[in-house]
Amino acid sequence: MRPSYKLGGGMVSIKTARDIEAMRPACHHAADTLVMIEPYIKAGISTDDINDLVHAFTIKAGGIPAPLNYHGFPKSVCTSVNHVVCHGIPGNKKLQDGDIVNVDVTTILDGWHGDTSKTFYVGKAKPRTEKVVEAARKALQLGIAEVRPGATLGDIGHAIQSYVEGQRLSIVREYCGHGIGRVFHEDPQVLHYGKPGTGVVLKKGMVFTIEPMVNIGKADVKVLADHWTVVTRDKSLSAQFEHTMVVTDDGCEILTIPSQ
Ligand code: MF3
Ligand code: CO
Ligand code: CO
Repeated sequence: MRPSYKLGGGMVSIKTARDIEAMRPACHHAADTLVMIEPYIKAGISTDDINDLVHAFTIKAGGIPAPLNYHGFPKSVCTSVNHVVCHGIPGNKKLQDGDIVNVDVTTILDGWHGDTSKTFYVGKAKPRTEKVVEAARKALQLGIAEVRPGATLGDIGHAIQSYVEGQRLSIVREYCGHGIGRVFHEDPQVLHYGKPGTGVVLKKGMVFTIEPMVNIGKADVKVLADHWTVVTRDKSLSAQFEHTMVVTDDGCEILTIPSQ
């Protein structure tokens, strides 16, 4: 999500053990959706086809695809191909061998949200493509490794930024992770850059996403005329991974894992 003046008020809700149990089905379903979609990610499939599969899979489970009509978003999932950073709108364009596509799934089940995304390879990737995708995957892992009571959001952002920039890649600043629960996007804003020891101090029961967007070229992005699609200004490749997690007694638990 885009850092917003509406958020950032510092009111970070603490979820109870009951709330966490209630969130699990939505988070599992979002993760299961990525497992379901993986075998379909092949040259020749369109992002509309991905949308239809995700939509049907969600409805069948009694869920609601959170993106659909969210602030006017027209589809049930975000599909971001190659230089699209995030919020790509599914359409009739077919995926081609060598492309990458991020599929970002958010499921609402029983009023709770689960939000997760993955970047998939379409066919065989070039080494430079693999570099940015694997760095984005690692950046998320390194961010997650910082999450524990007493750590700060700045610790997460710093771990991600220093790794990504150390790889001579760049981290997108304009979009961030977010608190999540009954609401899709709530406080805190989880920036993917920052200074250790700064910002909100993490407490047990906070639930948020981390979702770093990593570019092979410059960090700058722009939004297309459709008001949604975010692309790199230099048209360089961009990759992203996302999980929803809860702060526990001694670390965190990733909620967006498959149900089996
Ligand atoms: N799932 C995205 C996120 O990680 C948000 C998508 S909003 C939409 O926060 F409207 F574009 F779907
Ligand atoms: Co998402
Ligand atoms: Co998110």
